[in-house]
Amino acid sequence: MVDVSHASLNYGDLNDARSGRVPVGAVLGSDAAGVVIQAAADGTGPAVGTQVVALTTGAFAECVAIDVGALAEVPKGLDLAKAVALPVAGVAALRSLRAAGLGPDKRVLVTGASGGVGRFAVQLAARAGAHVIASVGSAARGEGLAEVGAAEVLIGLEGLQRPVDAVIDSVGGPQLVAAWNMLAPRGSVQSVGWTSREPAVFQPYATVGPAKSLTSFVIEGDVGADLAVLTELAAEGSLTVEIGWQGYWDRFEEAAEALRGRRISGKAVLEVASGQMQAPVPSPQD
Ligand SMILES: NC(=O)c1ccc[n+]([C@@H]2O[C@H](COP(=O)([O-])OP(=O)(O)OC[C@H]3O[C@@H](n4cnc5c(N)ncnc54)[C@H](OP(=O)(O)O)[C@@H]3O)[C@@H](O)[C@H]2O)c1
Repeated sequence: MVDVSHASLNYGDLNDARSGRVPVGAVLGSDAAGVVIQAAADGTGPAVGTQVVALTTGAFAECVAIDVGALAEVPKGLDLAKAVALPVAGVAALRSLRAAGLGPDKRVLVTGASGGVGRFAVQLAARAGAHVIASVGSAARGEGLAEVGAAEVLIGLEGLQRPVDAVIDSVGGPQLVAAWNMLAPRGSVQSVGWTSREPAVFQPYATVGPAKSLTSFVIEGDVGADLAVLTELAAEGSLTVEIGWQGYWDRFEEAAEALRGRRISGKAVLEVASGQMQAPVPSPQD
C-alpha cells in the first residue's frame, strides 16, 4: 500500500478517460510514486517507509495498493517528481527499442520525439550507440533533443533521405506510412501510439518487397525490473527527465489541456498531498 505523493499524466490516461472501457467512478491513472505504508503480506517487496515508483491501475489516488512486480524502489538522489515520469513512458521507450532489435550504428527514427515516450526513446537509443533521428511537429517542439542525444531533429520526416533500421512510432497516420516507406530491409516499425488519430493509407504494393516488419506494441507483464533500470539511469544522470508541467492535482484539467494541445515537452507531473495516509487497521473479519 503506497501513500501517493506524485502521479504523472500520460496521453494513454486521456485515452482511457474517453474510451468507454473504464467504468464510471473507476480511478484512472497509471504512474504513481510515494512511500510504502503497508508492506506486502507475503513478505515480498519493500518495507514500510520505502520510496517507490510504479506502473499501476488507479494511480490518480491518494493511496493505492500495488503489485510488488509493478514497482521499483526509488534510488537515493532521485526526486519522486522525476521518478514518477518514468513508468509508462520510460518502459514503453525501453521495451519498444528492445523489440526493434536495437544495436550500435543502427539508424533509429523516433516520432513524437517531443513527448513522454519520444524523449526517453531518443535518449535510450542514443545511449545504445544508435544514430537517432527525432521527428517533431515544429522547431520549437524539437528544443533540447539534440542535447540529449538526437543526431538529427526533423519536422515531420522532412529531410529524411537515407533509410532507417528502426522506427519507434507514437504518431501513426500518414507519418507511419511515410516512415514505413523509409524503412530498410530487415527493419522494424514499433507501433507504440497513434496521437495523430488519422488513418494510415498504404499505397498498393507498399508492403510487398524485402522483409521488414510493422509490429504492434503494448506494455505487458511485470515492469519492476525495467523500472529499476530506468530509475538507476535517471539517478546517475544518464537519463534526463524533462518535466514540462508540474502542479497540484486540482489543476488536472490544465495539465490535460496542455498535453492534448501539444504544449508539454516531456512529461506532466501532478503533486498529491502525502503524509496523510495510514495503513488500514485490519478488521476482525479480514
Ligand atoms: N502501447 C503502449 O504500451 C503505450 C505506452 C505509452 C504510450 N503509448 C501511446 O504512445 C503515444 C505517445 O504517448 P506519450 O505519453 O508520449 O504522449 P505525449 O507526451 O503527448 O507525446 C505525443 C507526441 O505526439 C506528437 N503528436 C503528433 N501529432 C499529434 C496530435 N495530432 N496530437 C497530439 N500529439 C501529436 C506530439 O509531438 P509534436 O507536438 O512535436 O508533434 C507529442 O509530443 C500515445 O498514443 C500513447 O497512447 C502507448
